[in-house]
Amino acid sequence: MQTFRLGFVGAGFIGKFHAKALTQVRGVDVVGVHALKGAEELAQYAKSHNIGDCKVYPSVAELCKNCDAVAVFAPNFARTDIVGQICDAAKAGAALKGVICEKPLGRTLAEARTLVELTKSAKLHTAYFENQIHMKPIKAALAQLNPQQKTMGPLSLARSAEEHAGPHEGWFWDPTRQGGGVLSDMGCHSIAVCWYVLTPIGKPITFLEPVSVNAETALLKWGQPKWRKQLLDKTGVDYSKTPADDFATGIVTFRNPETKQLVKGQFTNSWMYDKQGLRLFMDGLGPGYAFEVNSLQTPLNVFIGDEAAEAAADAETALEKSTSSRGLLAVEPNEADLYGYVDENEDAIKSFAAGKDAFLPWSYGLEITKLCMAAYMSAERRQTIDLTDPKIQKELETYVPLIAQGRGAEVLFR
Ligand SMILES: NC(=O)c1ccc[n+]([C@@H]2O[C@H](COP(=O)([O-])OP(=O)(O)OC[C@H]3O[C@@H](n4cnc5c(N)ncnc54)[C@H](O)[C@@H]3O)[C@@H](O)[C@H]2O)c1
Repeated sequence: MQTFRLGFVGAGFIGKFHAKALTQVRGVDVVGVHALKGAEELAQYAKSHNIGDCKVYPSVAELCKNCDAVAVFAPNFARTDIVGQICDAAKAGAALKGVICEKPLGRTLAEARTLVELTKSAKLHTAYFENQIHMKPIKAALAQLNPQQKTMGPLSLARSAEEHAGPHEGWFWDPTRQGGGVLSDMGCHSIAVCWYVLTPIGKPITFLEPVSVNAETALLKWGQPKWRKQLLDKTGVDYSKTPADDFATGIVTFRNPETKQLVKGQFTNSWMYDKQGLRLFMDGLGPGYAFEVNSLQTPLNVFIGDEAAEAAADAETALEKSTSSRGLLAVEPNEADLYGYVDENEDAIKSFAAGKDAFLPWSYGLEITKLCMAAYMSAERRQTIDLTDPKIQKELETYVPLIAQGRGAEVLFR
């Protein structure tokens, strides 16, 4: 098989993480990168880790002419513009096989739909990167419990949480650029995981029909004067004027179209999780069986006392979003693999090389965006959102959460 040539747009936090993941994937080279910042550093990383003779390109169009697929690892607010440029390049003759996009696909349902339409018009295969569905612990849990599921029936309750102390870049905190707060940023992961693990084994990823969403959003930490000031000083984002949710929770109810059984997925997300660092927690309960994943229960702990703390100046070498560099620290030795980045890259590359969409195409990302929008709508209206109601379905098509409009005070300070 010829080595697959992948190009990156964006070379920030997630671009670097994917580069790390790609050191563990065979048959692919990172041949080019275009980014406003960080491109040289990423190219250097690729070369020094033997994952490709990576060149820095001055435009998206030039990058597209020199690779087999492009991965969009740029911020949410730049998505439509960048994907438009990729699709224009494909229409102009760039021999692209596919395009990858990080979560969330769109900041609104309308934006997600535009992105799906753009790739259709350019006849590009797609991969929506929802890494948590590709996590090896999730795959292993489902494989291990396959016989139980077959004899006892599928899971009826899933709970999924992603929490950390807050994002690394200012634009994530700005609801008008990011698309909201933690629900937009991380609710998409947890909702997707719930839907996926609840789906009976062997059925398509959208087999279970989402019937309703009930959610709450809140600003529990970063709206308090002390933290608000810290955030303003650090990022320029003023949560007294344009607040966003730093906590969100809710329940999505799904119906099995064959048995009519209702099952529930409960999601919880926060940017105020002041513990060791990022925690992914998932569990699933079926009749007579269960599983639980907790990414902070690591096989490795290290202890660093006060005197030795200087030696651990870069706390994030232990764990993503690590908040401390001393004491008893949880260390994940291979985060790129644990969080599913290795497996999602492998799936996308193999799928594109075989001339098809990845396991999770953009049309799936659109469905996740719809559920996140319904969750914001539920929190805003303090109502359960009935997804089977044609009026709601129509409203969701053009809905922009108040928080994303910069009017979060109307929801979070009432
Ligand atoms: N799956 C996950 O767990 C996960 C984690 C972090 C981020 N993400 C997603 O990845 C995306 C990027 O996030 P990040 O944390 O890497 O952001 P970042 O701010 O760290 O990096 C963004 C990169 O894109 C570049 N960029 C910005 N605007 C651009 C433009 N118009 N054209 C070309 N390059 C541009 C920047 O220069 C930078 O290199 C976001 O959509 C985010 O939601 C996913």
